[in-house]
Amino acid sequence: MRRSRRGFLAVTIAVALVAVSACGDDKKDTGTTGGDNSKVEVFSWWTGAGEQEGLDAMIADFKKKNAGIEFINAAVAGGSGTQARQVLSTRLQASNPPDSYQVHAGKELQSDIADGKVEPVDFLYEREGWKDKMPKGLLDAITVDGKIYSVPVNIHRSNVLWWNPATLQKAGIAAPPKDWKEFLTQATALKAKNITALSIGPAWTQMHLLENVLLGELGVDKYNGLWNGSTDWKAPEVIAALEVFKQILAVSDVKSAAADWQPAIDKIIAGTAAYNVMGDWAAGYLSSAKKLKFKEGFDATASPGTAGVYNFLSDSFTLPKGAPHRGAAEKWLVECGSVEGQDLFNPQKGSIPARTDADKSKYTDYLATALADWQNSSTKIVGSLVHGVVANNSWKAEIETAYGIYAKDGNSAKFAEAVSKAYASVGK
Ligand code: GAL
Repeated sequence: MRRSRRGFLAVTIAVALVAVSACGDDKKDTGTTGGDNSKVEVFSWWTGAGEQEGLDAMIADFKKKNAGIEFINAAVAGGSGTQARQVLSTRLQASNPPDSYQVHAGKELQSDIADGKVEPVDFLYEREGWKDKMPKGLLDAITVDGKIYSVPVNIHRSNVLWWNPATLQKAGIAAPPKDWKEFLTQATALKAKNITALSIGPAWTQMHLLENVLLGELGVDKYNGLWNGSTDWKAPEVIAALEVFKQILAVSDVKSAAADWQPAIDKIIAGTAAYNVMGDWAAGYLSSAKKLKFKEGFDATASPGTAGVYNFLSDSFTLPKGAPHRGAAEKWLVECGSVEGQDLFNPQKGSIPARTDADKSKYTDYLATALADWQNSSTKIVGSLVHGVVANNSWKAEIETAYGIYAKDGNSAKFAEAVSKAYASVGK
């Protein structure tokens, strides 16, 4: 009964929306195709080593298939898009959108949909036959009211621990830590050898570490509960996990934190630090940019306490409302959703394809393990905070502000209180 009533309501809302758009001005409606084809301006934050290589590979394929369309790469530097998002927001507010921009699947995109920044792209999914070529859970993360709003190019994993086998050998450590308790024990041995236990970068990398410490300490259900309201941020076990996070930071080089994620990874390569927790774009950096061999120059496993869990995120591209070169933007989105585009991009980028029918043989070394874990039906999939999956933009901004204070005063209870309060006001 309830389900059919919901279905009825959805249909009613959809009909109402169609009626509104039919009466509206001459703006492009859902399902229309074409428009200016002369150039395409694509906005992302993939400029750094290990980020740019993947994008370049996809741009080259796009140019080959679309000779005559000028490609404008409007990438803004800065890991995880902290700078890029500010530039983008200014542009969107000034009604000066690029033709397509990078956004994470999940709540981050859903905020943009609610704010009316993007157009649905179902017509592309239908025309290109994509609907059964992407995992249902991923499509759900980019769908609102039955409409799909972006084209995912990849799946990244947030919960990865990276190290250099030579460093562990030098320190007499046989294997990476299975949980954070073991990590803290290893940290003492590493200190005796003058090796920093963990390298870290700017605030977003610290929050990246934090989400994975919470996941490792609390487990999947309670971690999910942090984002859907069923886990109380102020509960003693959450505070205890935050205290563990502080102990981890205390054995890191946070006082001389690296400027971004790549220089933090460089300390692993150099052997001055033993471990780093970073998303698997680090695999792109280590193998594509630094030309290191998996298992020899670097190694990777699930971050402590998260074996069998995939903390996922996905980069996707949009069709902004008012895209000045809409025809070319569609062609860029077709590139992003194509098997060839994804198979050129992801092996360089350190991610696995969003499409389920991509060429598996292109994913070797670390990426073969990522693909196997992603496709393993017993793997538990959760979503990343820092990379847009589980919190809307308003709540995430509040968490970032609270983290800024926490990074200075180390007051776990106060941080938890602030996050919880923000959830109640803007997070639901
Ligand atoms: C993430 C993004 C990744 C990677 C990373 C570091 O937010 O999804 O593709 O670029 O930032 O910059």
